[in-house]
Amino acid sequence: MNLQSNSEKVGISFDVHKIREDFPILKTKVRGKPLVYFDNAATTQKPRQVIERIKKYYEEENSNVHRGVHFLSEVATREYEAARETIRKFINAESTEEIIFTKGTTEAINLIANSFGKTFINENDEIIISEMEHHSNIVPWQLLREERKAIINVIPFDDNGDLILDDFEKIFNERTKLVSIVHVSNSLGTVNPIKKIIEIAHSFAVPVLIDGAQSIMHNKIDVQDLGCDFFVFSGHKIYGPTGIGVLYGKRDLLEQMKPYQGGGDMIRSVTFQKTTYNDLPYKFEAGTPNIEGAIGLMASIEYLNGIGIDQIASYENELLNYATEKISQIPQVKIIGTAKEKGPIISFVLENIHPHDIGTILDYEGIALRTGHHCTQPVMEHFKIPATTRASFSFYNTKEEIDLLIQGIQKVIKVFS
Ligand code: ALA
Repeated sequence: MNLQSNSEKVGISFDVHKIREDFPILKTKVRGKPLVYFDNAATTQKPRQVIERIKKYYEEENSNVHRGVHFLSEVATREYEAARETIRKFINAESTEEIIFTKGTTEAINLIANSFGKTFINENDEIIISEMEHHSNIVPWQLLREERKAIINVIPFDDNGDLILDDFEKIFNERTKLVSIVHVSNSLGTVNPIKKIIEIAHSFAVPVLIDGAQSIMHNKIDVQDLGCDFFVFSGHKIYGPTGIGVLYGKRDLLEQMKPYQGGGDMIRSVTFQKTTYNDLPYKFEAGTPNIEGAIGLMASIEYLNGIGIDQIASYENELLNYATEKISQIPQVKIIGTAKEKGPIISFVLENIHPHDIGTILDYEGIALRTGHHCTQPVMEHFKIPATTRASFSFYNTKEEIDLLIQGIQKVIKVFS
């Protein structure tokens, strides 16, 4: 891999080779070969700035939040709340009351399904999702369907992986209570036209939840501009720690929604007769939160702000175009997911070669990819395939690494020919 090339220099402030120095794990050798990490849609690697910030928290600030009057508790509380403010600014929410810390995207969707569900969804009420949802945006609604006898409507997609929205308006009726839709598909890479979807849903006065797990790290998100009612994402996909995520919700909805879990911090007063609940956002944060996670996430967002999300988006798009062009030149490869607008994700299949075999051979080349159904079994069912091999790119990847992937795929084809 030639790391001296200037080809990945974008603009004046974005230098991929300098950026790679921030990620200690990228120096890993896999059986003597340099690690090529293309499993970024599953989780991203962490810059030194995040690792060091978490270390600082434990060495200098560790204490519980919102509970003590002592020095350390005040420091931890200040940093935890600073993290909330950093996230508010990052997604341009109106208020920190609208930023709820969760374990991740999955917990955030489960929170909404439980809480919004118990508050607003009754028998025969309808929820709209799409055919390309991750299991975490399907199963919580199925659980709710069982409990409330609700109905789930599914927007289909075409063979390119674009949502078929021609009949979208026709799905709505007076019983439609929520649209819950993925922004960027983790298995197809499709970027959905969420602004249009939100506008249509709002014309029927139906709120919209956006699953931003695969979009938050690639594009500027402005929740006020989007107008979405909920937006959820995970810290570990945006270069922060695992076990922390964010639920943004419009204040008036969150205020009406019943609490999700009971415990410390989410109450104002408790007696055996009656409990009153705390204000937002604490009403939805029962128990000691993931303080280290929130602070680590703040560090990752500060890091990304330092590079510039627009620079990141433009470079990742360049990588996507380069990889798509190169992979398309291999006749045995079929790309699954050729939507009009895509995030930096390429899923593909090779005729008569199982993705697990592809993944194993490429691992011997030091190349980390994801193989399987990517927790989107309905997507696999659509294409009548059991699994795909998925390469997902980050701003720390290079075109030289993509060349290694192409050589690796050619090697797989040779082994099986
Ligand atoms: N949802 C994650 C992925 O797409 C884990 O790999």
